[in-house]
Amino acid sequence: MSRLERMRQQMHVENIDAYVIIRPENGRYLSGFSGGEATLYITTEKAFLLTDFRYIEQAKGEVPKFEIIKTGQDHFESLAEIGRQAQRVGFEGDFVTYENFGKLKNGFPQAELLSLPNLVSYLRSVKDQAEIETLRQAVKIADDAYANVLQTIEIGQKEEEIGLVLEYYMRRAGASGGSFEFIVASGVRSALPHGTASSKKIHLGEFLTMDFGAIYQGYCSDITRTVFLGQPQDKHREVYEVVLAAQRAGIAAVAPGRTGKEVDAVARKIIEDAGYGDYFGHGLGHSVGLAIHEGPNLNTREERVLEPGMVITVEPGIYIPNWGGVRIEDMVLVTENGCDVLTQAPKELIILE
Ligand code: GLY
Ligand code: MN
Ligand code: MN
Repeated sequence: MSRLERMRQQMHVENIDAYVIIRPENGRYLSGFSGGEATLYITTEKAFLLTDFRYIEQAKGEVPKFEIIKTGQDHFESLAEIGRQAQRVGFEGDFVTYENFGKLKNGFPQAELLSLPNLVSYLRSVKDQAEIETLRQAVKIADDAYANVLQTIEIGQKEEEIGLVLEYYMRRAGASGGSFEFIVASGVRSALPHGTASSKKIHLGEFLTMDFGAIYQGYCSDITRTVFLGQPQDKHREVYEVVLAAQRAGIAAVAPGRTGKEVDAVARKIIEDAGYGDYFGHGLGHSVGLAIHEGPNLNTREERVLEPGMVITVEPGIYIPNWGGVRIEDMVLVTENGCDVLTQAPKELIILE
């Protein structure tokens, strides 16, 4: 079944006769348009793509199956013209601004508007073969960049320089850019789960956490590795081994039919039993695809069940304020029997001197 057919099936379930899409990754998923600024309007029979002068030729080339409509700056005005008949119209309530919602209401005075933020992201959660191949490539680009950056790290370098080198290798290998603002966090900063690369210099006696990824043909990768600079003390080794054990157990627990909550609990228990439960304050993982963070998640609340074809991260961490922290993150593909680990970079503690 095509993506549009699956979309219409979902629209039928929700009993809507049209759906408005402005989130770029949802638009790309359904239409193939990679240009970013377009609005899709999907009805039970037709599919429209609205965009302006800057993107019109690109849209005609990339999206042959949609009716392309050239708009001015304001897509919502044209939308109102084609949507006059609609009675129940869904939209991405998590993405449409208050201002744009006002325009939707004015443009569709006859219709009931329904916030259905997860309609397309639900379809996107199970990846098809082509998406899986692209994601494998995005992961490989990040894996290779990691192998390369390890050869270039020098004591005294700034975290920012390490982030730049990672990006350089990934772009050389075909990435269009990084999949988020990279985290390069050393020493006490490694206790900041989202410590983006700073001008801090790296020193001996510190952990160095690198969390980065590539965008390849629109698809994201996401990997974290933590290395030690110089000679680790017993506590450094212990914390690292606890995170690694939790990460391995989390991966072993990924299987179709399990909820995100169940998988999270397996890894979390290992960290709690080791006495570090208070230092693991985030979820175990999230799905990845056209966006860096997608559903379903692995966390203490996620009731959704894993299905073959989902691609999800497993990324436990321990973060001890004013001391340091460790996170290890792989991407895995849920298979019929368990999962296939996409990330190949080594995970045993690497010591750089
Ligand atoms: N890069 C943020 C995360 O791992 O989710
Ligand atoms: Mn990450
Ligand atoms: Mn992640």
